Amino acid sequence: MFNKKKSTPQIDKEQLELLENAQKRIKQKKRLYAHFIIFLIGSVILIIANTVLGIGKEFTPFGKEWFLFAILIWFFILLYHTFNVFITNKFMGKEWEKKQLDKLMVLQQQRIKKMREDLRKEEIDIVKNKPTKQTITLIAATAENNAIGKDNKLIWHLSDDLKHFKNLTNGHHIIMGRKTFESFPKPLPNRTHIVITRQENYKVPDGVIVVNNLEDAIDAAKSDLQPYIIGGGEIYKQALDIADKIELTRVHDTFEADTFFPEIDPQIWKETSHRKFSKDEKNDHDYSFITYERK
Ligand SMILES: NC(=O)c1ccc[n+]([C@@H]2O[C@H](COP(=O)([O-])OP(=O)(O)OC[C@H]3O[C@@H](n4cnc5c(N)ncnc54)[C@H](OP(=O)(O)O)[C@@H]3O)[C@@H](O)[C@H]2O)c1
Repeated sequence: MFNKKKSTPQIDKEQLELLENAQKRIKQKKRLYAHFIIFLIGSVILIIANTVLGIGKEFTPFGKEWFLFAILIWFFILLYHTFNVFITNKFMGKEWEKKQLDKLMVLQQQRIKKMREDLRKEEIDIVKNKPTKQTITLIAATAENNAIGKDNKLIWHLSDDLKHFKNLTNGHHIIMGRKTFESFPKPLPNRTHIVITRQENYKVPDGVIVVNNLEDAIDAAKSDLQPYIIGGGEIYKQALDIADKIELTRVHDTFEADTFFPEIDPQIWKETSHRKFSKDEKNDHDYSFITYERK
């Protein structure tokens, strides 16, 4: 939601065109006015040049002073210029300008209205979706017989489940038993690990938090509105009573195991989402992503 966004222009193509036309029109009128002033000054200079300074005094075509013809020609050029601005460009006259301006204003008003509505919707969404209380979620992958592991390892390979786990837990605190922690080759990136053990002086890499009971684990994650309890069997059993939510990947097969997920009591938990997927080249078994919420 807060990604860097590509900046979008504030006015669209049509509005830009209208604006450019309005500017062009103003420039045309300004130029005509300047031409008129130059014509007046120029005419006076031509008259002075001929009558006072005597320039071309003997040049009198059709018995008239030459400046009369010069001013007349210039006058026709000025007339042509005026014709161009007001007649040829009639479609850009006062009426047209007013229409364009009205159109522009309507467009701007529509745009402002839409921006206001979008902003209000966004505000409502933010207020609605802003979590205000911590949700403790158990996240697990279990077989049909609730098997979750054997010899401190996972039993199956489901690429999509690993991605699902990564997407949900990314950026959050993950709480786990010591054995589950030891089943990882190294801590998972971009997550705060909280390891529960009864051992004093249990050594862990920098950044990993060690606690001696589940209560302290929850306390260590209190800054996170969405901490995840990621297993294994012993921790799931103890945490089921305090969890608000379960994100369960149900693997539709039965496996031999030494660690199991506790029974999910339908009197306590209601299923709020269920998405089923078939096995493929990356996922060895059919599986479902199921969400349960405490009733
Ligand atoms: N399928 C899945 O979603 C999933 C997820 C996670 C794990 N797993 C599997 O589950 C298996 C591991 O589970 P697990 O049940 O054997 O072990 P675990 O729950 O990961 O860890 C058990 C250890 O946690 C510590 N512990 C437990 N309760 C405690 C308490 N109340 N206070 C202090 N420390 C406490 C103890 O550590 P100390 O002995 O050091 O005192 C205990 O030995 C593995 O096979 C793993 O692959 C599967």
